[in-house]
Amino acid sequence: MTEPNRRAGAVAERSGELAALDRAHQVHPQHLDTDQGQPVILARGQGAVLWDVDGRRYLDGMSCLWNVNVGHGRRELAEAAAEQIGTLAFANNYIGFSNEPATRLAARLAELAPGDLNHVFFTTGGGESNESAFKLARFYWSLRGRPEKIKIVSRLGGYHGVGMGAMAATGLPAYWTHFGPLPSGFCQVPPMSAEALEAKIVAEGPDTVAAFIAEPVQGVAGVLPPPPDYFPAVRAICDRYDVLLIADEVITGFGRTGRYWGIEHWNVVPDIIAFAKGVTSGYLPLGGIIFSDGIRATMHAAAQDRFMHAYTSSGHATCCAVGLRNLEIIDQEGLVARAAVSGRRVDEALAPLASKPYVVDRRGLGLMAAVEFRAGSGIAGRALAEARRRGLITRSREEHLMLAPPLSSSDAELDEMTDIFNAAVVAVAG
Ligand SMILES: Cc1ncc(COP(=O)(O)O)c(C=O)c1O
Repeated sequence: MTEPNRRAGAVAERSGELAALDRAHQVHPQHLDTDQGQPVILARGQGAVLWDVDGRRYLDGMSCLWNVNVGHGRRELAEAAAEQIGTLAFANNYIGFSNEPATRLAARLAELAPGDLNHVFFTTGGGESNESAFKLARFYWSLRGRPEKIKIVSRLGGYHGVGMGAMAATGLPAYWTHFGPLPSGFCQVPPMSAEALEAKIVAEGPDTVAAFIAEPVQGVAGVLPPPPDYFPAVRAICDRYDVLLIADEVITGFGRTGRYWGIEHWNVVPDIIAFAKGVTSGYLPLGGIIFSDGIRATMHAAAQDRFMHAYTSSGHATCCAVGLRNLEIIDQEGLVARAAVSGRRVDEALAPLASKPYVVDRRGLGLMAAVEFRAGSGIAGRALAEARRRGLITRSREEHLMLAPPLSSSDAELDEMTDIFNAAVVAVAG
């Protein structure tokens, strides 16, 4: 055997062995055995490019899970983590303790957040952030002497995570199957109608509703931005009925939509922002909520009532140190403005698909984009597989095919992604 052939054989053996071990021992998020027959086993990343253990190159058209905003392989983030781990990797953040990275990151997030959102509670991911937002909303109303305000209203198509509360708020029934009964106190409204929200609050009884949660742009459902007057109307309705507004910025935060926060497109200030993903660009798990001076003042006034809500890793020193460095990169490289410009580039590149008879819609905001195909056509799933075969990782849901590249992607990388995206669609649909 020649040397290159021997090397190729050794690599194939490695990926084959890993795939077999994986099938035998790992249960994956959204697990289905047939998905794991030949998993893509990723090994390395640089910028918007990933390589698998066999050395195959892929463009990362989804920033992995909408989260690797600054791109892969950043030495600065590795160094920030190493420095913090070598100094104090983890510290108790409960009851009378704190640590410098958590404090500095909370202060920075308060600076970045709109309006009077100045107070941060850390979690380790998006679902925990939403659970924390729901519990904070109930805590707030209970402290205000209105303990019957408990219900959480959310939107059909919304995705908020998979813990019991976040799952119940998630408006995608596929996430409920086999896991019932759902906790009570959650209900949904159609996604883009402020009138429907008002009618729901009135029907449920405003005295029983604690909060309304919405993603500024629905991500998982298929990149659905709202009509321009939606969030201003929602804000007014929430004010009218004393309902807290929670913006789930888990995908849309940290520049993804071309503004720092998605909700800023409509000049609306929510009462609570839930964040995760882009805060560390996925380098370490971190999330949290940022909430208003008013909620904080209520906590302060009720000095004897402890907020009995906590995670061991809340304010994790290393995760927060990486978060701080990641936010510096976003600033230094102007990635929020770049996402707006790159988003227009992606939109223009996908425009030719709009004239295809099988394309129903094309949408996007900043670096979130989706093409929607005719119901029942099966094009999205086939194009997803074809794009992967051609070296682009993207994502589909039902008849939507999505694209959400790292904010740091070069123009050449974006063009290569959209070329493959278009070619894959045409190859499977004509
Ligand atoms: C809008 C939104 N909220 C919450 C979550 C849940 O985040 P996690 O998976 O970190 O719990 C996600 C995950 O994709 C999300 O897109």
